[in-house]
Amino acid sequence: MNNCILVTGGAGFIGSNFVLDWLARSQESVINLDKLSYAGNLENLASLQDDSRHIFVQGDIGDTALVERLLATRQPRAVVNFAAESHVDRSIHGPEAFVQNNIVGTFRLLESVRAYWAGLEDKTKSGFRFLHVSTDEVYGSLSKEEPAFTEHHPHEPNSPYSASKAASDHLVRAWHHTYGLPVLTTNCSNNYGPYHFPEKLIPLVIVNALAGKSLPVYGDGQQIRDWLYVSDHCSAIRRVLEAGRIGETYNVGGWNEQANLSIVQTICGLLDQLRPRADGQPYRNQIAFVADRPGHDRRYAIDARKIERELGWKPAETFESGIAKTVQWYLGHQEWVANVQSGAYRDWVRTQYGNAEAGNAASAS
Ligand code: NAD
Ligand code: TYD
Repeated sequence: MNNCILVTGGAGFIGSNFVLDWLARSQESVINLDKLSYAGNLENLASLQDDSRHIFVQGDIGDTALVERLLATRQPRAVVNFAAESHVDRSIHGPEAFVQNNIVGTFRLLESVRAYWAGLEDKTKSGFRFLHVSTDEVYGSLSKEEPAFTEHHPHEPNSPYSASKAASDHLVRAWHHTYGLPVLTTNCSNNYGPYHFPEKLIPLVIVNALAGKSLPVYGDGQQIRDWLYVSDHCSAIRRVLEAGRIGETYNVGGWNEQANLSIVQTICGLLDQLRPRADGQPYRNQIAFVADRPGHDRRYAIDARKIERELGWKPAETFESGIAKTVQWYLGHQEWVANVQSGAYRDWVRTQYGNAEAGNAASAS
């Protein structure tokens, strides 16, 4: 069949890591469809500038005419759908973009793909896959004692973001059951690593620490997330695409549950070693407890035994190795950080953390 795949949202954090990893391992071309929202950044893909296997197209997954044209001319053997609005706090301030991009966008993409797939000849049709990249947040929140989410856990989303992702998961499922579209869904825990936009906890803490700003911890900082290094998420997606059973969902996680405060303290400790503060004080002095997120989910935890049992996938990185690589990456990519801190980024920081731009270290310590 045709030697290309269509990746949507491939200029964002996980999507760009996926495209880079894919092209480092395979000769198969990538058509990268991304509308370049505030989170999309072609600088992430700068190393592919002269690589003819990467074909970037700026556009929206909801633009049916564009997507149908791309599918017809490029004839991909698979679609991997990363495109989405992805930040919970933004979804609280402005949920409409989440409904539009994550729900309506996925619906339109599914319809374009269904029409394309229906017209394929038998051999290519049976090999075709639509892989939907989703999140553990669709399952809702766990107490400390409850077992981790399995694939059978009901969808109980609590934020506008997770509700929009849950809705898109349901659409994908329905397009399989009703129309036979050969879909796969992955539900992954919190990712971290290179090219992570500094609105999310881990890159925000690294960037603020180095800038001498306060490190905002919501509520009591005891909310628990499972953290997975981004290249492990990419390898899981490649494996599911290669061998996942059609119509199935696979949970992907790092077996690494940690409270937010502990994550922030670990980053502070690494920075103390790698880039000590000029005044000799520890970075943890910059930690500031701030108002909690409305409806803040207390705990996410992923039971990733199905993907290990059926597909032999396990994470390669520990949190210790992954977070050290991540901090090193940010230290070595200060220009990337400066470039993403545009006017729009500063507007967001003001909206979320107030006029003092998340305060400064002096006032927080
Ligand atoms: P991101 O916000 O960094 O990137 C999203 C990308 O999608 C951006 O490049 C943006 O321009 C693009 N995009 C958004 N709407 C689009 C549209 N309508 N048409 C075309 N492009 C569009 O997000 P991310 O963290 O890389 O997440 C990627 C996917 O993985 C999302 O679907 C997210 O729900 C899922 N996910 C993320 C995590 C995580 O920890 N970040 C964990 C599990 C699952
Ligand atoms: P985030 O990176 O936004 O991911 P998600 O909400 O999708 O899990 O946040 C991770 C955790 O860190 C979450 O419990 C909220 C918390 N958090 C803070 O305490 N302070 C912050 O400034 C941010 C952005 C997040």
